[in-house]
Amino acid sequence: MLDKIAALQDEIRKLTAENAAQAEELRIKYLSKKGLVSVLFDEFKQVAPPKKKAVGMALNQLKNEAQSSIQALKEQFENSETKSTQVDLSAPGSSFALGSRHPLSLVRNQIVDIFARLGFTVAEGPEIEDDWHVFSALNFPPEHPARDMQDTFFINKDPDVLLRTHTSSVQVRVMEQQQPPIRAIFPGRVFRNEAISARAHCIFHQVEGLYVAEDVSFADLKQTLLYFAREFFGENTDIRLRPSYFPFTEPSAEMDVSCSICGGEGCNVCKHTGWLEIMGCGMVDPNVLDACGIDSNKYSGFAFGMGIERIAMLKYQVKDIRLFFENDVRFLEQFTAAE
Ligand code: PHE
Repeated sequence: MLDKIAALQDEIRKLTAENAAQAEELRIKYLSKKGLVSVLFDEFKQVAPPKKKAVGMALNQLKNEAQSSIQALKEQFENSETKSTQVDLSAPGSSFALGSRHPLSLVRNQIVDIFARLGFTVAEGPEIEDDWHVFSALNFPPEHPARDMQDTFFINKDPDVLLRTHTSSVQVRVMEQQQPPIRAIFPGRVFRNEAISARAHCIFHQVEGLYVAEDVSFADLKQTLLYFAREFFGENTDIRLRPSYFPFTEPSAEMDVSCSICGGEGCNVCKHTGWLEIMGCGMVDPNVLDACGIDSNKYSGFAFGMGIERIAMLKYQVKDIRLFFENDVRFLEQFTAAE
């Protein structure tokens, strides 16, 4: 019996394993219930009493040795396996993919910031509107072409529901709720029943401005818009106002800025005129003030409205308005660094 124990001990001292599974196999082979070491414990019962003490001690030593060396084999693999999944704290971090603001948001924020410096607050109105707020209160005659199905998305006749075609509807909502002085801008989305092309879209964005108080003059309008143009397009920018017509302003004008791309010399973007048209504006028609419950004998005001897409196209030289709505990452990524 002692020989057997010594032989097994020799065997166990030479054991090696190449991976954790092999070490486990060895544990089963020697130490499980029917393993080679355990079997010796069964045989031990037959050992004659005088030899029991010596054999018992040898057997216990064998068992302890087997347990610790097989355990050591196992641990060697546990360590190396955890090591490979350990975090290397000295490795450089993986970089975040940074998003960017949409160019339309960038331009809108810049416009809002500039007018905020002049004391204009921001208000918004609903995109789904009615005839009163989009047309009637704004002095549109009943036969005006904008009331045509071809220009406006009408949703319902009675009660009349339509998608606003301009943010001027927010002028009406604000004036109905608030007495002058009013000094606010209204950014928002508008809808027109137009064929989609590189230059026009059925959905676009505008920023509307409104200033109503006592003694507001056309000079105030001109100075405000000159300030805006120079802040937005640069200090060498000039503006020019051309007479125009809107039902809700009298007099009305179209504002051009000197072409920031060629500096007024003439280029493709300004079609060799040196000027870029960027907004409509004018003195609020007294009929509009009265329709909104503001005394047109006491108060006067100016209003203006510009398309955000148009201004973004000029600023970033984007040639196709559809790019703003496709959300192609290759396009949007180019604005990552812009503020
Ligand atoms: N609402 C006009 C448009 O959509 C722009 C405008 C706003 C003109 C305010 C004058 C005053 O074209």
